[in-house]
Amino acid sequence: MSAQQMLKVFVTRRIPQEGMKILQKAGMCNLSVWDSDEPVPRAELLKGVAGAHGLLCLLSDKIDVEVLDAAGPNLKVISTLSVGFDHLAIDEIKKRGIRVGYTPDVLTDATAELTVALLLATARRLPEGVEEVKNGGWSTWKPLWLCGYGLSGSTVGVIGLGRIGMAIARRLKPFGVKRLLYTGRQPKPQAQEVDGEYVPLDTLVSESDFVVVSCSLTPDTQGLCDKTFFSKMKKTSVFINTSRGAVVNQEDLFEALSSGQIAAAGLDVTTPEPLPTNHPLLTLKNCVVLPHIGSATYSTRGIMSELTANNLLAGLTGSKMPSELKL
Ligand code: NDP
Ligand code: DGY
Repeated sequence: MSAQQMLKVFVTRRIPQEGMKILQKAGMCNLSVWDSDEPVPRAELLKGVAGAHGLLCLLSDKIDVEVLDAAGPNLKVISTLSVGFDHLAIDEIKKRGIRVGYTPDVLTDATAELTVALLLATARRLPEGVEEVKNGGWSTWKPLWLCGYGLSGSTVGVIGLGRIGMAIARRLKPFGVKRLLYTGRQPKPQAQEVDGEYVPLDTLVSESDFVVVSCSLTPDTQGLCDKTFFSKMKKTSVFINTSRGAVVNQEDLFEALSSGQIAAAGLDVTTPEPLPTNHPLLTLKNCVVLPHIGSATYSTRGIMSELTANNLLAGLTGSKMPSELKL
């Protein structure tokens, strides 16, 4: 391809080299990269995307009308290094005939594993225990010290039994979970595999010992876990969220945790991200907060990077994408 025919691609962050190599080898992209581990400042994003044919972005980049306008009519494809796409103005993107690539499936196992780890760490109070060992709080073996909640014989409720929700359910069942409840927009035939019972949200919330949120963030799920939601949970229940922070009203969660309305919460996602270090949730011993690391295994991030690059190239050439979001 001659220099003039090269297609302009803006990459909003340093990404795993697997994807960069694919883009470089393709020999059709004039690559411009925000070469940093930190998010691209908005002004740089608006500048970088101008005239681009392709945009490779992350979940922390808000791709709205302003960005699409700044890109202009060349933009053919947006490829995001994530399965979640709540950061993209989908209606506007669709209207402009831009294709979208994303990364479903390849991160399902890593995210489900992390969710189980977070659930166990929260329910069995692992961060508190580690802290007590370090600060000298471990005086002797005490019958009632650092007791938590176990999965054996429990009821688990999964909100959003999609790819990740199902992978979480598959992993939790062998711990001896007695009932697996789930809710969503419609019953899922695959739920049979985990003896999943499709129930209304209220039933799930009031009967579960563990409530696990793994739905996508949509206008319907935004703020779903609020005061009313937490007031229906058992006082002994543990709440886990690995979907998106905005599904939860964090002020209501703080109130539920600090008043003893619920036992504990484990969050991999928050609003905002990062959560400010002086945030009230971080003062609570019964709240475990992780920095959005659901898909963070070396191999998963490498594969996500490859898939994101291949989606982008397919969008540029007008061919079939390995993972195209149906708009
Ligand atoms: P899927 O699309 O397979 O699953 C999403 C699920 O959300 C579907 O089962 C859907 O149900 C459900 N859902 C949608 N609306 C509602 C609603 N109103 N009430 C209840 N459930 C609802 O996506 P994935 O499983 O691949 O990913 C899910 C989400 O996990 C992503 O969107 C992302 O936000 C988050 N994620 C977080 C990661 C992390 O690092 N913490 C890593 C990867 C993903 P239905 O099918 O009935 O519509
Ligand atoms: C996603 O892909 O949506 C996650 O939040 C990060 O992997």
